[in-house]
Amino acid sequence: MKLLHIKVSPGLASSASRIASQRLVDNLRRQHAGLEESVLDLAQRPLPHLDALTIAAFFTPPHLRNESQLAAIKISEQLVDQLFDCDTLVISSPMWNLGLPSVLKAWFDHITRAGRTFAFTPEGTKVGLVRDKKVYCIVASGSLFTHGPFLQDDQFTPYIRVALEYIGITDVQFIRVEGTHDPASRTTALSCALQTIDRLF
Ligand SMILES: Cc1cc2nc3c(=O)[nH]c(=O)nc-3n(C[C@H](O)[C@H](O)[C@H](O)COP(=O)(O)O)c2cc1C
Repeated sequence: MKLLHIKVSPGLASSASRIASQRLVDNLRRQHAGLEESVLDLAQRPLPHLDALTIAAFFTPPHLRNESQLAAIKISEQLVDQLFDCDTLVISSPMWNLGLPSVLKAWFDHITRAGRTFAFTPEGTKVGLVRDKKVYCIVASGSLFTHGPFLQDDQFTPYIRVALEYIGITDVQFIRVEGTHDPASRTTALSCALQTIDRLF
């Protein structure tokens, strides 16, 4: 099994989302002896935001792209290939300001590509081209979002769900590490998430 593990938190060793996603990957590795993991660490190697040249390259047919467009689109092409190549995707991220850290949004901007990861039918409907992927998305947040006063405020999980569906990925399982603001509840939040992860396997 080929697994792509996207890590977002700059917290590295202390990060709740990284600790939880590592447990998940360890469990998957126990289940799949030959698991091949590729790591995309967006905190340590952030992606460039889309610029005018890259966008122009997106909208130029591949055989007409000039040298600077080919250079500009290279990262996006590699990220799309990497996505197609995996069977399972693990996204491990904190929630920031109710949504995605911008490095993770940049990844979505690079892989959401007309003609590569989605297309339009002659009737004008859109169809996702990335098939047969399982996604585990681990999201750590300071507050609680499964119940309580902030229930309506979560812009992270709805975005991920819709953005993945847009490119054809519908099998998405969210695992929350929620309530990490308070040091007392942080320990409980993490151990609850680890228990949830262990129960999955
Ligand atoms: C810039 C920034 C913005 C944040 N915004 C939110 C937020 O909107 N809602 C929330 O519940 N927690 C928010 N937090 C708290 C983090 O989501 C929380 O600390 C989480 O555990 C971080 O995950 P990590 O330990 O994997 O880095 C924010 C933290 C930072 C640094």
